[in-house]
Order: sequence, then structure tokens, then C-alpha cells
Amino acid sequence: MSSRGVFILLWAVFLPIAAGAVQDSSDSAAAGMAEGELQGLFEVMTALLEDSSWAELHPHPCTDTPWPGIQCELSQAGKESELYLHVTRLHIGPDVAAPPCRGGAVFPAASLLQLPYLKSLSLIGCFIETPVSPLVNLSAALFTTSSVLEQLVMKSNPGLSGEIPGTIVLLSRLRVLTLSQSRLHGAIPRELGGGGGLSKLEELDLSYNQLSGRIPEDMSGLASLSILDLSWNSLKGPLPPSLGKLAALQKMDLSSNLLSGSIPREMSSLNRLLLLDLSANSLSGTIPATFKALNGSLEYLLLEGNPLNGVIPATLGELRKLAVLSLSGCGMWGPIPSSLTRLSRLTALSLDGNRLNGTVPPELGLLPSLRQLNLSHNELSGEVPFVEQFVARLGARLDVRGNRGLCTDPAAFRRNIYLMGSIGPPCTYASAAASARPGLEPPPAGEPQAVGASKSSSWSDGDEEELRRSSAGATTATSPAFSAIAAGCCCCFLHLLLFLLAVV
Ligand SMILES: *[C@@H]1O[C@H](CO)[C@@H](O)[C@H](O)[C@H]1NC(C)=O
Ligand SMILES: *[C@@H]1O[C@H](CO)[C@@H](O)[C@H](O)[C@H]1NC(C)=O
Ligand SMILES: *[C@@H]1O[C@H](CO)[C@@H](O)[C@H](O)[C@H]1NC(C)=O
Ligand SMILES: *[C@@H]1O[C@H](CO)[C@@H](O)[C@H](O)[C@H]1NC(C)=O
Repeated sequence: MSSRGVFILLWAVFLPIAAGAVQDSSDSAAAGMAEGELQGLFEVMTALLEDSSWAELHPHPCTDTPWPGIQCELSQAGKESELYLHVTRLHIGPDVAAPPCRGGAVFPAASLLQLPYLKSLSLIGCFIETPVSPLVNLSAALFTTSSVLEQLVMKSNPGLSGEIPGTIVLLSRLRVLTLSQSRLHGAIPRELGGGGGLSKLEELDLSYNQLSGRIPEDMSGLASLSILDLSWNSLKGPLPPSLGKLAALQKMDLSSNLLSGSIPREMSSLNRLLLLDLSANSLSGTIPATFKALNGSLEYLLLEGNPLNGVIPATLGELRKLAVLSLSGCGMWGPIPSSLTRLSRLTALSLDGNRLNGTVPPELGLLPSLRQLNLSHNELSGEVPFVEQFVARLGARLDVRGNRGLCTDPAAFRRNIYLMGSIGPPCTYASAAASARPGLEPPPAGEPQAVGASKSSSWSDGDEEELRRSSAGATTATSPAFSAIAAGCCCCFLHLLLFLLAVV
């Protein structure tokens, strides 16, 4: 919707100029457009759109009979005072046409070449795949050295298949290349990263395709790149160290591929990087300690779902701008470094599904911006050290389930007693049970937990009932509140059931 807004604005700025040009020109028949270019445009629209009478409805697409997806600019052709209008932007998408393209639309490469002033081409939701529509290829014919294309955006085209032609590097003025959510396959052309053919490229988005093979070894030619999105493909092999040469990079998303090997320390020189998403790959090895050099920029570090199998480096605590850190399911072991408690801008911390042990640093509960904390399914022990206000603020976004040795102090959660179910068994219960049955005492903070010592004092989803039962007499003194709440809930449930029955 906002792109439409921008477009209307552009028209509003542009139209008076165009109208002026037409008034100046003695012959407004072709509205100042070269005949070949106009014909090319008609052919393109006929090839793509449902409306076969487009040419008749829009004989002067730059002036009197505009169409919202077309933008024109004036240019001087040779002789003074001879002004021409040229199509510089062609956009077809759900915001300007419904349906965006006709069934069976083909890629009108030859006709597009008749629009030599085209700077921006976007076809969104255009090529669909039906039993009758042929799959469309990205025509190599479009990519010539004479092209002035600065933006090529082809998104959500499930009928777009084939490979990305290596000749795409001939588009030396390209700033934005988006070929996402289609069915492109094959490898990313090797030439794309090196050679400097695309040295003006700022945005490269090839996400949600079926690209395979490796990321090109040499990426150093993309000197202006600020956004690199290759997520949701089938790319394999290592991350090339040359990624570290993309000095302008702000966002790198390589998530959901099959990438392996370690995270190259060369990436520590990307000192403008805001977002690094390498999640859901097969990366192994440590997070380079040199990553602390990203302290001036990095806000999002998403590494979940990689078999890193290491300890969390204390140096992560130096990434003072970090807002989101996710290391879920990375096989991380050892302690939660207390340095993480220095990340004062942290809003979400996900360390779940690892083998982290030791105690929970109390200062995590003092992080002013934290809204989400997942420590579930680790081997943490001791008391959950958070104060009531913190627990109340995070509510269901605080998750410490599935840590055998963790317990909570009910006194700290008097008013939020309903939350206790989501954060662990009461410590008093654990010690009461321990006095009744020696050997069930959870390990004191900071000490390794004895294997098998605490099955019944452990806590995970659905264990409460078992806990209550097994604790027998020992609990009655300490958790009447629990039973009362449980009884109350049963009561509520029965009432609800009766009410529903009555309604039916
Ligand atoms: C064009 O697409 C077809 C079908 O996917 C494919 O077999 C063919 O190799 C493609 N050609 C190019 C040049 O990518
Ligand atoms: C960022 O890291 C560099 C080197 O790692 C260090 O010299 C600098 O003081 C750090 N800046 C801040 C603000 O922490
Ligand atoms: C915490 O992570 C686990 C997976 O390890 C997930 O099932 C759970 O929903 C997460 N909790 C929250 C509150 O997001
Ligand atoms: C944590 O686990 C490691 C082995 O994975 C062990 O050497 C260490 O003593 C444990 N630490 C605590 C506090 O349990």
C-alpha cells in the first residue's frame, strides 16, 4: 500500500512536467514518445496483462491516459527543444492490477528490449504455475551491456523457473536485484560475486527459491551491498571468507540452507552489520571471539538450529547494541556467561534446547528491555533468581521449563502465584521433599547435579501432578495454595462445562 502511495506522489510531481512538455510540443499525437518504444510497451502489456484492450485504453500512457504501474521521464533527444518521453519504470503487481498478470503470461524479453530507458522493472505475483501455463525462464536476452536497469524486482512468481543467467552481471547499473519466492534452481552464478560487474548493487535478495551449490567463493566485487538475503534455499558448503569484504553490509540472512563448516572470523570486519541470521543450517565450531568487533552495529544475532556444540563466548557480552540473541538448539554447553547481563538493550534472549548448566545469572532479571527469555530444556540448576515484577512483566514469554535442577521461591511470587506453574517447582517444596526423602535435594547453586538424583524433583511440562502425588505428606504443609488453586480450576472447568451444555 505504501508503494502505491509513493507512486501517486511521483505522479503528482511528474504529471505537470509531462503536461507542460506536451503543450510545448507542436505534435502531441504520440505524446512525445518514440514510436518504437510505444509499440514495445504495448507488446509488453499485451504479453503480461489480462486486459487485451490495454493499448486502446492507454494510447498515451505517459500523459493523457496514464496507468498506475508506468512512470515516464523527459529527456532531450539530440536537437535542442526536442523533448521525448520515455518509460523509465514498469511495475506490475497486486497493488496496480487484479489479477497482476494473465494466466499463461510469458516473459516478454524481446519487447522489453524496446524500452531502452527502463530503470526499474518489477513483476510481482505475475507468473503463476497452472497445468496450462508454461514455466517461465529468466531470459538472458534481457541482460545486455546497454541496459540502464537499476532495479529488477521479480517476487512471488511460482511459475518462474530455470537458472539465473551469468550475464546478469552485465547490468552494471543495478542497485536492487530481487528474485525471491520463485522456483529458480541451479547455482548462484560464480561471476555475480566477483569481478566488480555489480559493484553498484545495494540489495540482493534470492530468498525462497531452490538454489543449490555453494555461495560463490569470491563475493568481494559487491562493494556497495548492504542487504544480502539468500535464505530458504538449498545452498551448501562453507561460508566464503570473502563475505567479510562486503564492507557496506547491514543485513545478512543466510538462514534455512544447508551451509556447513565454521563461521569465518573474517566476518568480524563487517562493522556496519545490524543483522546476522545464519539460523537453521549445519554450521559447526565456535562463534569467533573476534565478533566483539561488531560491537558498534550488531543488533540481531540469530544462530539457532546449528550444531555449534561449543560454549557461549563471554565476548558476546561486548556486543552492546544487541537486541536479539538466539542460540536455541545449538548444542551449547557450559554456563550462561555473566557477561550477557551487560547487554542492556536485549529484548529477546533464546538459549533453549541446549545443554547449558550452572545457575541462572540474577542480573538477567534486571535487563531493562528484556521482553522474552527462553532458558527451557537445558541443565540449569539452583533457584530461579528473578523478582516478581520481572516475572510478571514477561508473563508467558518467560520459559524455564525442562531444567531438572531449577526451582522457585514461592515467597517471591505471592501475587503471581498463577505464574509458578510456568517457571518451576517451589524451592521450599523441594527442600521439604528432600527432608522426607534424602537424596532428592536439588544441587546447591553452582554445583554439578548428581545424575538421576532428582527425577521427581525435576520439573517439566505436565510434571506437576506427579510432583504433588509423590510428595505426599511433605507437601501438605507447604503448598495448600497449589491444591486450592487446582481445586478452584477444576471447579471453574466444571462450571464452564455446565454452562456450555446449558447453552447447547
Ligand atoms: C528454462 O526452464 C526449463 C524448465 O524449468 C529448464 O529445463 C531450462 O533449463 C531453463 N533454461 C534456462 C536457460 O534456465
Ligand atoms: C568495541 O570493540 C573494540 C575492539 O574490539 C574496542 O576497541 C572498543 O572500545 C569497543 N567499543 C565499545 C564502545 O565497547
Ligand atoms: C522456548 O523454546 C522451546 C523450544 O526449545 C519452545 O517449545 C517454547 O515454546 C519456547 N517458549 C516460549 C515462551 O517461546
Ligand atoms: C557443566 O557441564 C560440564 C560438562 O559438560 C562440567 O564439566 C561442569 O562441571 C558442569 N558445571 C556445572 C556447574 O554443573
